[in-house]
Amino acid sequence: MLNFTFVQSVRILNGKGCISQIGELLKQAGYQKAFVVCDKILETNGVLDKIRKSFAASRISSVIYTDVRPDPPADLIEKGAMLCKAESCDCVIGIGGGSSIDTAKGINILRFNPGSVLEYAQKPMQHCSGLIAIPTTAGTGSELSNGAIVSDPEHDVKMPIMCLENMPEYAVLDPELTMTMPYRLTLLTGLDTFSHCYEAYTSSLSNPMTDLICEKMLETVVEYLPVALAEPENCEAREKMQYAASIGGWMLYNACAHVGHSIAHVLGAKLHIIHGAACAYDTPVVLKAISTAVPAKVRKIGELLGAEYTGAENPEEIGVKAAQAYQAFVKRLKLDPIQVDSSGIDDTLLAELVQSVVNEPFAGLTPVKIEEALTEKMLREILF
Ligand SMILES: [Fe+2]
Repeated sequence: MLNFTFVQSVRILNGKGCISQIGELLKQAGYQKAFVVCDKILETNGVLDKIRKSFAASRISSVIYTDVRPDPPADLIEKGAMLCKAESCDCVIGIGGGSSIDTAKGINILRFNPGSVLEYAQKPMQHCSGLIAIPTTAGTGSELSNGAIVSDPEHDVKMPIMCLENMPEYAVLDPELTMTMPYRLTLLTGLDTFSHCYEAYTSSLSNPMTDLICEKMLETVVEYLPVALAEPENCEAREKMQYAASIGGWMLYNACAHVGHSIAHVLGAKLHIIHGAACAYDTPVVLKAISTAVPAKVRKIGELLGAEYTGAENPEEIGVKAAQAYQAFVKRLKLDPIQVDSSGIDDTLLAELVQSVVNEPFAGLTPVKIEEALTEKMLREILF
């Protein structure tokens, strides 16, 4: 069997102001009626007006669906899919952050596949065409990734649906759309991008081609995230972060994430810690945990973050230096310390968190074996 290691199937339209071409893009692709998934803020910040104007110029009709929530719950996806089918829309556009794009991905799955969207975390699906992703944050990379995160609120779990059959056909990357992101959102989405790139770089699915790209994207985040935070309207910094985020999503598609994202998914579902923050809180412990398996890569990550190595360090020391450099980086960017009431985490809850991390699908791609004892050690260091 051929095992392809490097794929990019999404057609990308990029550049400042390119959102005004969305109508023309749909027309050329043969679509006539778009189901637009976004959150309500896009009504007030002028983005939907730009899209409507572009649609009108190309005679595209549309239905707007704004019932989007963070960690998209399956029931809202199913509600959206029913409306999309009832309105006979022939394409689905996700515009916004990861939640909007993942909601759109879920709706598009159900245009072509029966049942609940949660079923497709485990079972194959029919090919789903007509998906267009327009990010307004620079973090998730969902526009170029094969994954969608959907939550099952009944059971407090976030489920990754790896939907190779439901990749976006097009992504529209307009850096102007990211300029209104407030400081904290810019920070947390940017740190999510960092996690995508360092986890893909060190995952057991990484390969020499993804490594080259991940190194450059890590360098890009370290250089441009501080600029985007200090100068929110710096178009160059916003553009570089948008590309790093999208390419980070592409790296997830090709090399995947690992235990950093497993922990973040569990902390998000069980303790409601925002995804990018959870990734940032677990990165130092993960760098230390994997340094024995991939010391050269952890050293490279440390160097990109400004750590200095003499060459005499053992793998554990390499991990400690990289972790410290990351902590200094996020401190400079004013990331709040984790806010969890650790007195509310008893042994039963801790054991439940450990099991959830060990069984999370990405954990098996970590370059070290994710066993209970190591997981408990990592969680204690993060939470207590
Ligand atoms: Fe992420």
